[in-house]
Amino acid sequence: MLTQSGDNQILSSSILVVDDNPDSLEITQEILRRNGFTTVSVEHNAARALSRVITDEFRVVLLDLLMPKMHGFVFLEELRKYQLGISVCIITAMHDQETCMRAFDLGATEFITKPFKEKELVARLRKLLVSNSNQKILAAKAQFFEEIASDRTLELEQAQSEIIRRLSRASEFRDNETGLHVVRMSHYSQAVAATLQLPKRTVNLILHAAPMHDVGKIGIPDGILLKPGPLDEAEWLIMKTHPTIGGTILGGSSIRLIQTAAEIALTHHERWDGSGYPAGLRGQEIPITGQIIAIADVFDALTSVRPYKKAWSFEDALAFLKTQTGKHFSPEVVTAFEQALPEITETYRQFQE
Ligand SMILES: [Fe+2]
Ligand SMILES: [Fe+2]
Repeated sequence: MLTQSGDNQILSSSILVVDDNPDSLEITQEILRRNGFTTVSVEHNAARALSRVITDEFRVVLLDLLMPKMHGFVFLEELRKYQLGISVCIITAMHDQETCMRAFDLGATEFITKPFKEKELVARLRKLLVSNSNQKILAAKAQFFEEIASDRTLELEQAQSEIIRRLSRASEFRDNETGLHVVRMSHYSQAVAATLQLPKRTVNLILHAAPMHDVGKIGIPDGILLKPGPLDEAEWLIMKTHPTIGGTILGGSSIRLIQTAAEIALTHHERWDGSGYPAGLRGQEIPITGQIIAIADVFDALTSVRPYKKAWSFEDALAFLKTQTGKHFSPEVVTAFEQALPEITETYRQFQE
């Protein structure tokens, strides 16, 4: 037996009647009103009904099957995708068992055939409302919208990192470093950041932003950038503007990934002892992203073949990094680099020309 307040709750439940026939809609609505149901809405357009069910708060849908624009089965199929936990009672003139079974298969909870008796409809509707509490529906809806939100965030992040990858490809055209250099050095950076136990999100940002470190080279004249021999002093001064140019290209964004890329572009040639460029930052004045990229960038340059040099062995390159502890590189980052060597070796093997 229901208490008075339980019964009031049942009678005030939000119900949507969906039927393309205005007369049927009116009759059903009238029956429900007569039996004390206070919150009954009607809709003759099934597609509109579906969007109302998804966005508004209904506990039960009374659904016709044969409708011209959207068949009741399609409605059920679509509704099922949202898993909102809303009960659907089919009201149809079709009597055959096959239709009935298909409706249940698609998630209907009740099946009433026309013409129906008023008492029958009310009894079945009450039964549905008792078994389907409001909380259940609200919880299902909240979960559904949470999932949509996280899907959208993911999509946006993918778009951002794709833009970054494409922009870095643009800068590679201007340089003798290959695309694999940026792949390797960004994975090395990721491994070092993870070893330093930076937050997962930061590790990820570093991986995706690192390929942009030299984007500022877009602004360096060919005569300097592609010069086969060593640069003279004046040429070096121009070459050393590429971090500032990169910082300007990427600066001022409100997107975290681009902000990180700007920071990296600007600070990847700073040195721990303050002898780097463009700002001559010292120690922890250099953002951790710049500290990490600096070591990954140099290590990959050393262990790769360049027109002017052979590839160094891992041992030689590592020994060199160690000599630069506290000079070019942060001592903490050098240690993390050494600890991350198994992953770094694996990346090196995977990404060779
Ligand atoms: Fe650079
Ligand atoms: Fe580089």
